[in-house]
Formats: sequence, structure tokens, C-alpha cells
Amino acid sequence: MRAVILPHTGGPEALVLAEVPDPSPAAGEVIVDVHATALNFADLLQRRGTYGTPAALPGILGIECSGLVASLGDGVEGWAVGDEVCALVSGGAYAERVAVPATQLLRRPLNVDLTIAAALPEAACTVWSNLIDISGLAADDVLLVHGGGGGIGTFAIQTGRSIGSRVFATAGSAEKLQRCVELGSERAISYRHEDFVAVVKDETGGYGADVILDNMGAAYLGRNIDALAPDGRIAMIGLQSGRDAEIPLGRMMAKRSSLFTTSLRDRPLAAKARIVEGVRRDLWPRIEGGDILPVVDRIFPFAGMAAAHRYMEDGKHVGKIVVSIRES
Ligand SMILES: NC(=O)c1ccc[n+]([C@@H]2O[C@H](COP(=O)([O-])OP(=O)(O)OC[C@H]3O[C@@H](n4cnc5c(N)ncnc54)[C@H](OP(=O)(O)O)[C@@H]3O)[C@@H](O)[C@H]2O)c1
Repeated sequence: MRAVILPHTGGPEALVLAEVPDPSPAAGEVIVDVHATALNFADLLQRRGTYGTPAALPGILGIECSGLVASLGDGVEGWAVGDEVCALVSGGAYAERVAVPATQLLRRPLNVDLTIAAALPEAACTVWSNLIDISGLAADDVLLVHGGGGGIGTFAIQTGRSIGSRVFATAGSAEKLQRCVELGSERAISYRHEDFVAVVKDETGGYGADVILDNMGAAYLGRNIDALAPDGRIAMIGLQSGRDAEIPLGRMMAKRSSLFTTSLRDRPLAAKARIVEGVRRDLWPRIEGGDILPVVDRIFPFAGMAAAHRYMEDGKHVGKIVVSIRES
């Protein structure tokens, strides 16, 4: 099969289209004929060699895809050859075929094209596990989503709105601020020109945010705590502004606040299976009902993987960047 491999870490040019052996399914896995894959921030970090868990080299990146079930490993039940699916994987999705634990498959939502469905698994699983499972986001909660224009952010805003929360989102450009509002953010906050703590406090009558989905890490920690309401929760999913920070425990305790740090990719299979099950139960009906829809900025051809990475690094995209594998 063809795959985009990473022979060594580096810039986008390090990604090379090559012939590699087909995967074979272990017990409990299926082989998916990949229709499309989607880019994630983690892919950029892995390519550069700066992700927490380094990629095995030479390796195949890609942590989500859509496609057709091509074959079943021993012990797989409930799936059949030809099923249209999207899937969460731990690597290997920049390829024509990938082995996927059956517990990480989701049926293509009826209203979402198979190529576009590649944009769903990572965002849906990240948002479900952080907002619904860990933070217990509820109707009428105040939710602050940082990076509201990104792949995770666009999904998180819609999920918060769908649950009935009051959603606020930060973004860095006029276009992204506008899109955040269109997706359900009551007020979008320019992190370049406004103080998000002041805006959230002001808009909520001094109350603050019950839940903050944070992609920034160190530099935002203190201000996130300031922006929290009593009993507020911070779900920290990214460290884009830095890894190391002092935790102001006194300010946290004064509000009885909680700080969760999470990563999806390195969780054990059973934990991922539980998350995928939660997504299937709680989010898939909202997608099929049209309440939450994948936001896809652009679709690149398979041979354009390096260009897709460059485009993501440029940071102007709104939502997800998809790479079509089958149509090229
Ligand atoms: N822990 C997990 O399990 C998990 C899973 C998936 C993703 N993530 C993390 O989630 C984050 C988003 O990933 P993605 O794939 O959605 O990438 P993405 O589409 O490239 O989104 C990155 C976002 O960062 C925003 N950003 C940059 N500087 C900012 C600032 N100063 N304040 C607020 N936002 C800022 C960008 O917004 P502007 O363009 O408006 O600047 C953009 O929306 C990444 O940090 C990624 O590592 C974590």
C-alpha cells in the first residue's frame, strides 16, 4: 500500500509518500481501507520530534481516519466488511490501510460524507472526554473554549451550545471570531486585543466560567484560574504556550477549583473504548440530528500531505484539515 511515512523528524518536507507493507489485523482489530484522514496538532509535534511520546521512526503518522472495513481480525463482532466507519487510531492513518481496534470504530454518521467523517473521531473523543466525562459540563454552565477556531475548538463550541451551556471562545483573527459566534459562542474574545478574564467576568455578572477547555498551558494557567467560577474546572489539553508553571494553590483552593490535564492518544485501550462508547451514545445523535457538524476548512490530496502540514502551521484554518486518500 501507499503511505506517507516519516523517515526522520523535521519540517513538512520530511513527509514522504512511499510503498510500505500492508498491515494485518491482530485479534480484536479490523483493517480499514482508508478513505480520508485528518490533521491534528499532535501530528505537527510528532513530525517535529517535540511530542511527549516520540513517533517510532520510520513511521506513519495520523491518528484518525474514515473508510471501509476491509477485513476482520479474530474475535471481532458487530462489524462487517464494507461498513462505512471513522476511527480513532494511535498512528498509521496517513495510509491506504490501517489496523484499528474494533472498539475505536464509529459508524459514519448518516448525514456526513465519508471524506468529511475523517474529521470527527479525535475532536469528538477529546471533547467528550474533557467536557462531558471529566468536567461534567451541564446545561446553564458557563464554558470558555480557548482556540475556538481550531479543529477541537469548533467542535467544543458546538457541543457546549448543544448541551445548553453559555459558551465563550477565544480566537486570534476577525474571521475566526466571527466563526466562533456562528458556531454558538455567545461572545467571541480576541486574545490579541482583549483580556478574556475581564470579558468572561463582565458577561457573567462577575461569576466566571464553570469549565475552561484550555489548549495553551503554562502562560494561561494563572488567568484561567482567575476566570473560573466557584467549583470551576479547567481541562488542559494542550501546552501551546509552555510546559512549566507554578500552580497558585491558594487561589485555586479559594474557589475549590480543579485542574485536569489529559491526553487521549496514550491512554490504554480500555479507556479509549469507554470514550468512543461515550461519543457514540452522547454525541453521535447530536451529529446525526444536525446539532453538531464537522467544520472542515480544506481537503488536500494524498500527495499534498506536506502542503497540508504547511497550511496547518500557518494557522489560518478554521476547523479541521482533511486529506483525501482514496480519491487521489
Ligand atoms: N490532550 C488531548 O487529548 C488532545 C487531543 C487533541 C488535541 N489536543 C490539543 O488541542 C489543541 C488544538 O488542537 P487542534 O488539532 O484543534 O489544532 P488547531 O486546529 O491548529 O488549533 C490550534 C488552536 O490554537 C489556537 N491558539 C493559538 N494561540 C492562541 C492563544 N494565544 N490563545 C488561544 N488560542 C490560541 C489557535 O487559534 P488562532 O488561530 O485563533 O490563534 C487554534 O485555534 C492543541 O494544543 C492540541 O495539542 C489535545
